[in-house]
Parts: sequence; C-alpha cells; structure tokens
Amino acid sequence: MKILRLQDLIDQGRVRGQRVFIRADLNVPQDDTGRITEDTRIRASLPCIRMALDAGAAVMVTSHLGRPTEGELKPADSLAPVAARLAELLGRAVPLRANWVDGVDVKPGELVLLENCRVNKGEKKNSEELARKMAALCDIFVHDAFGTAHRAEASTYGIAQFAKVACAGPLLAAEIDAISKALANPRRPLVAIVAGSKVSTKLTILQSLAKNVDGLIVGGGIANTFMLAAGLPIGKSLAEPALVDQAKAVIAAMKARGADVPIPQDVVVAQEFKADARATVKAAAEVAADDLILDIGPKTAAQLAAQLKAAGTIVWNGPVGVFEFDAFAKGTETIARAVAASPAFSIAGGGDTLAAIAKYGIDKDVGYISTGGGAFLEVLEGKTLPAFEILERRAAG
Ligand code: 3PG
Repeated sequence: MKILRLQDLIDQGRVRGQRVFIRADLNVPQDDTGRITEDTRIRASLPCIRMALDAGAAVMVTSHLGRPTEGELKPADSLAPVAARLAELLGRAVPLRANWVDGVDVKPGELVLLENCRVNKGEKKNSEELARKMAALCDIFVHDAFGTAHRAEASTYGIAQFAKVACAGPLLAAEIDAISKALANPRRPLVAIVAGSKVSTKLTILQSLAKNVDGLIVGGGIANTFMLAAGLPIGKSLAEPALVDQAKAVIAAMKARGADVPIPQDVVVAQEFKADARATVKAAAEVAADDLILDIGPKTAAQLAAQLKAAGTIVWNGPVGVFEFDAFAKGTETIARAVAASPAFSIAGGGDTLAAIAKYGIDKDVGYISTGGGAFLEVLEGKTLPAFEILERRAAG
C-alpha cells in the first residue's frame, strides 16, 4: 500500500514549524468514576506525538471517547482523564481545549489536546463543512487512529480529503505493515484462528479467509457449528444450526483449494456453564445429549499446536474455549503458547484475544498485536478501510 508517512515528511524536513493535527484513537475504557482502567491505546499513541514534537511542529491531538451526542460536551464525555494520563506519560503539561473547531492557538514545540471530536456537530456523518474547518487548522493531517480506521467520519476521513497534506502516523503505518505482511504477502502456510461464540458475527470473516488461508482453525461456539456441519454431536452446546450450510460451504471452499478446516477430534465438556463445573475430556463423537462443550480437548490442542508451529504466518482472533474458567482454559493456553513458540509471523487482535495474550504473558512473542477492535475485524473481512483508501488516494496525488 503506497501511503505518505509522517516519518517521510520529517526526513524531508517538511514538519519543522508546521501545524500538525493528529487524529489518535484514545478511546480507552473507564470505570464509573472516570478512572482509566486500561491505557494501551494512549501508550500506543505516544510515538506519533513525540515524533511531531521532536520535529519542531505545533501539535494538536484529538480523539473520540465513547459515542457521545453531538452538540454538547457532557463531563463524562470529556478527554480530561486522557489529558492527565498523557501528561503523566509525556512528563509535560497537556492543556485541553474545548470549542476548538474555529481556531486553535498553538505554537511550534507546544502540544494541545482537543476535546472529544465526536461532540462536534457533523462528525459522524462526515460533514464537509466541519471537515474543511478542521483541515484549515493545520498544515499536515496525521491519521494515527487505527482503532477508528474503519469509520469515515469528519476527523478521520473528510479532514484527510481537505488538509494540505495527509499522512499516516507511526501506529497506523505499523498496523498497515503488519496487516500487509500477514494477509497480502504472507509467508505460507498461512493459518488463521477464528474463534468466538457465534458463526453469524464472523461469517464474512470466515468466508473471506477461506479464499486466502491454508488452514482455518475454528474455536468456541463457531467450532460447535462446524462440528454439526461435520455430522458430530454437540449436546446442548452453544451453536447456530441455521448456519450449518454456511459452515459446510466454508469447508468445501477450503477443500477445493487443498486447504483445511480442522474439526476437533476431542473436547472438554461440562454439565453446567460454571467456573467450578466438573471438566471431562471426551472424543468428539462421544459428546452426550446433556454435554456442554467448553474447550477443545488435549489431542486437538496438540494437533493444532503442531500446525501453528509449522506455519509461516498466523492470524489470531478469538480464544478457542472458555479460558476465563481455569478448567476450560487449556486449549486456549496451548494455542497461545504455540503461537508464541512458532517461528511464524503472527498478528493478533480483538478484546478477548488480547486478554488471553495478557493472561499467558506472551505479548513479546506475538509478531504484532493490533490496537483495533472493529477495525481489525473489518480487515479480516477483506474490506478496504476508509483510512487506508483516502491516504492511498492522497499519496497518489
Ligand atoms: C473502538 O473502540 O473499537 C474504536 O475506538 C472505535 O470506536 P467506535 O466503534 O465507537 O467507532
């Protein structure tokens, strides 16, 4: 993908003294008191901010926080906690500006945080009037918000159309590079793990990956529907029988390309969905009418681990069992450790997957951990994200 990067502009000496507008994704979870409970996205946004400041720019940063009503800034929607955390991490004051659309006073070497961009009227509908006003605030627009790259809003898309210069920040660029390495030019075999409770929410992902990957490992409720498609009993496990034909079509599409969807040969079952429910390992063909499948079994886990260790590239979205309960976590732990041990380039994304990576402490051994939730899923669906499309178009002139 040919896009202009902030680093290119710095290398060309085009940033010093310029007004740089960074669209970051600082949409972090908070508790009821507004305290930030997880700050990965703030930390992931620091390199871009530091790069622009070090290059001598006048720096404006904005982000959305939640999904506020446009036209009013309620205290709960304010980026104030984010400004405080940014100030701590950067070791400098981070003034927060409200009502900034018509003008921002910021000088080279200074940094200001612009209040929640989603309270501006017209943001979500990508109003041209709003986008042009924001574009007029800066000389250079930097898109560094991968988590929001699947949205075409005024601060993510319109501004990129109208700003004098539009480029990708280092976080967005790193995500683009990792995605291209994993999906556009993968070292083969390319193995994807797609797990989660429902086939329906990930059907387009399964269909899209079925055209590209060499192995498609399914897990969780999704695997149960695939077991049904393979004629196996699943007892009272979570599944979507209405989608069995779609699952069969995915299996057939893979087979036609000489690729496969490994169906679990053994599973871990319980009678109840409870952390202290008794866990029993059973051959897949022996699942009883009152069994609930809550994890893959040890034989399946070992087989999948071997497949992952022999992979050239791994794409991982979703835990394969109820890993929050220790008795049903071994499948996900085995998969996580196999991803970590594999020489393959791996990319992982999605909230539950990140929680599993954190639980098993393998973050340093995963090739790239995406900061995108919905954006990462849309990439797996094979969609071109609006952020990528507009930055490519601007780079083409
Ligand atoms: C996210 O949390 O996935 C991103 O910040 C995007 O948020 P949105 O779904 O509200 O656009």
